[in-house]
Amino acid sequence: MTKEIYEELIEKEIEELENTSRYEETKEFIQHGETSVYEHSIKVAYLSCEIAMKYNLKVDYKLLIRGALLHDYFLYDWHDRKAHDGWHGFRHPKRAWENAKKEFSLTKVEGDIILKHMFPLVPFLPKYKESWIVCMADKISATTETVEILKRRIAIGM
Ligand SMILES: [Fe+2]
Ligand SMILES: [Fe+2]
Repeated sequence: MTKEIYEELIEKEIEELENTSRYEETKEFIQHGETSVYEHSIKVAYLSCEIAMKYNLKVDYKLLIRGALLHDYFLYDWHDRKAHDGWHGFRHPKRAWENAKKEFSLTKVEGDIILKHMFPLVPFLPKYKESWIVCMADKISATTETVEILKRRIAIGM
């Protein structure tokens, strides 16, 4: 695997999702700070591939990428308390999985990536290498996005 190949694969999968599902709606929902769910999910996909390549892990890159792109496919504004039933942190993996299942025939690996990405908050142990990678990449991305907000707030003296 090379960076060029996985970048091309990611672009291809994004295009495919945009053409066949409600994927573009994720652009409208904010994940952390100013990062949309769309941008966040793409970041997680890039980082997941980077991790797999760096440690030379034998993974299915297509499934890794699709799982990463769909891991937060919950399709609501989680900051809006009226938009969901509460406990977003615990419940959104299941919601994302249900939404994804409606539009795609998910493989076991993709399903596991989506359902287990909040481990250890959600106490279901990821089963596949791909699920562990996305779980880690998600935490790294979320931390970076939150640090960026803090830096910006400090810079403007809030
Ligand atoms: Fe998530
Ligand atoms: Fe996420």
